[in-house]
Amino acid sequence: MDSDSPARIPRHIAIVMDGNGRWAQRRLLPRKLGHREGQKAVRAAVEHCRQRGVEALTLFAFSSENWSRPDDEVGALMQLFVKALDSEVDDLDKNGVRLTFVGDLDRFDGELSARMRAAMARTERNTALRLNVAVNYGGRWDIAQAARALAGAVARGEAKVEDIDEAALGRHICLTDQPPVDLFIRTGGEVRVSNFLLWQIAYAELYFTDALWPDFDAAAIDAAIDAYARRERRFGLTSAQLRVAG
Ligand code: IPE
Ligand code: IPE
Ligand code: MG
Repeated sequence: MDSDSPARIPRHIAIVMDGNGRWAQRRLLPRKLGHREGQKAVRAAVEHCRQRGVEALTLFAFSSENWSRPDDEVGALMQLFVKALDSEVDDLDKNGVRLTFVGDLDRFDGELSARMRAAMARTERNTALRLNVAVNYGGRWDIAQAARALAGAVARGEAKVEDIDEAALGRHICLTDQPPVDLFIRTGGEVRVSNFLLWQIAYAELYFTDALWPDFDAAAIDAAIDAYARRERRFGLTSAQLRVAG
C-alpha cells in the first residue's frame, strides 16, 4: 500500500502546537512574536491537511491551564485570536473549511466568544475540512461536561442510570460527530499530553517531534503522516488476526 492510499492517511489529526515561546526566546524576541509566527504554521497545516485529504484537524491553541501565564502573554494571545478571526475566516470559508471552536467559550470576553460563534455559524455548511480549534479546553473539563449532561438527562427522567455506558458518555464528548482521532502530534519536544484530548485519543497513534511549532511545515506534516502509515494499529488484536482480516 503506498503512503497516499486513503487507508494510510489519518482521517483525523490532533496537534498540540507547542514551542512558540522557545522559538522566540532563541531569537531573543518576546514570546508573543513566537505566537504570531505560530499563526503562519497554522495556516500551512490547515492548507496541507486539506490537500492531503485529511477530514478533520484539531489544534490545541489555548489550554484551560494557560490562563495562569503572565497577564501580558494571555493578553497578547487574546489579541492574536481576535486578529486571526478577522484575517483568516474569509480564506477558510473560501477554501471550504468548517471551523469549530471546542472548549468552554463562556470564559472569553463577550465580544471574542460572539466572534467565535459567528465564525462557526458562517462556515457551518463547508465540507472540505473540519478544523477544530481547542481554546480554554481541558480534557478533564470535557469528560466532566459530558458527565454533567448525562446526569441532567437522568434527572429529567430522559435517561436511566443503567443507560450510562461508554457509548452514551461518548455521545456528549467534544468532537463526537467527527472521525476518531487517528494521529496525535505534539511539537516542541515535550512528551506529554498536557490535558488535551483524553477520551478521544484512547487509540490514537502518538507522534512527538522536537520541531518547534513555528518551524512545523508541510514537509514535517508529511513526515508525521508517513510515520503513521508505517504503524500497525492492532486495537488489541494480534498481527496474525489483522492479516486474516486483510
Ligand atoms: C504553545 O507554545 C502555545 C500556547 C501554549 C498558547 P508555548 O507558548 O507553550 O511555547 P513554549 O513551550 O513556551 O516554547
Ligand atoms: C499545551 O502546551 C497547550 C497548548 C499547546 C495550547 P503547554 O506549553 O501549555 O503545556 P505544558 O505546560 O508544557 O504542559
Ligand atoms: Mg509550551
